[in-house]
Amino acid sequence: MRIAVLGTGPVGHALATRLVHLGHDVWMGSRDAAGEKVVAWAAQQGDRAHAATFADAAHEAELLVNATGGSVSLEMLASIDEADLEGKVLVDVSNPLDFSQGFPPRLAPAIDDSSAEQIQRAHPGARVVKALNTMNCDVMADPSLVRGPHTVFVAGDDIAAKAAVVDLLASFGWPRPDIVDLGGLIASRGLEAYVLFWVNVRMALGTNHFNIAVVR
Ligand SMILES: NC(=O)c1ccc[n+]([C@@H]2O[C@H](COP(=O)([O-])OP(=O)(O)OC[C@H]3O[C@@H](n4cnc5c(N)ncnc54)[C@H](OP(=O)(O)O)[C@@H]3O)[C@@H](O)[C@H]2O)c1
Repeated sequence: MRIAVLGTGPVGHALATRLVHLGHDVWMGSRDAAGEKVVAWAAQQGDRAHAATFADAAHEAELLVNATGGSVSLEMLASIDEADLEGKVLVDVSNPLDFSQGFPPRLAPAIDDSSAEQIQRAHPGARVVKALNTMNCDVMADPSLVRGPHTVFVAGDDIAAKAAVVDLLASFGWPRPDIVDLGGLIASRGLEAYVLFWVNVRMALGTNHFNIAVVR
């Protein structure tokens, strides 16, 4: 598949690299297609990896991953031609963290909204699916880093788009019973709010390589 990973941070790097290794053609998007990070990543990953602007990456891709901060995602997506979002699955990995008042961060949108819903409202033609925002990026791309069964969540209003994302997660190594569908995109409110708790657990454990498991 042709996939745009919109973001050059640790999440963009981890997911784009995993996707290339799985045989996809991947465009890593940045504000600057000649930027150091995106050029170095593409050079390391070979023929299937491409450096691009956010707009060009989206133009090339059939499926997109938003791996930018929740507070800049709308600005990033505004740089993309609306026609290049129309009908495409957009996996939203973002968290709307606000570090402006130091650490630990605050959550930016109100409790009765979420970054994912803001993105969906701003781009109604995109098929937004919230996923993977509840764990560190190494674990997103390689769930075997955490021992035993542990859980990844999906939420979205488009059933077929969600099914496509579930397949993608399964290809990363997530066992299907551990992929929990929370229903509509409104569930992103809880998924994004959870990150505050994730930060506390991270500080207590001193490692990024953990996750939660929903035990029935
Ligand atoms: N780190 C994790 O393990 C983790 C886990 C779960 C969820 N998340 C979430 O995943 C997202 C990505 O996190 P990250 O740490 O990998 O990267 P990040 O530092 O949050 O974002 C990096 C990307 O943001 C772009 N960017 C920054 N300011 C921008 C602006 N004003 N307009 C447009 N684009 C802008 C950068 O563009 P350039 O390439 O041009 O510099 C870069 O591509 C965040 O929402 C984060 O909360 C992270």
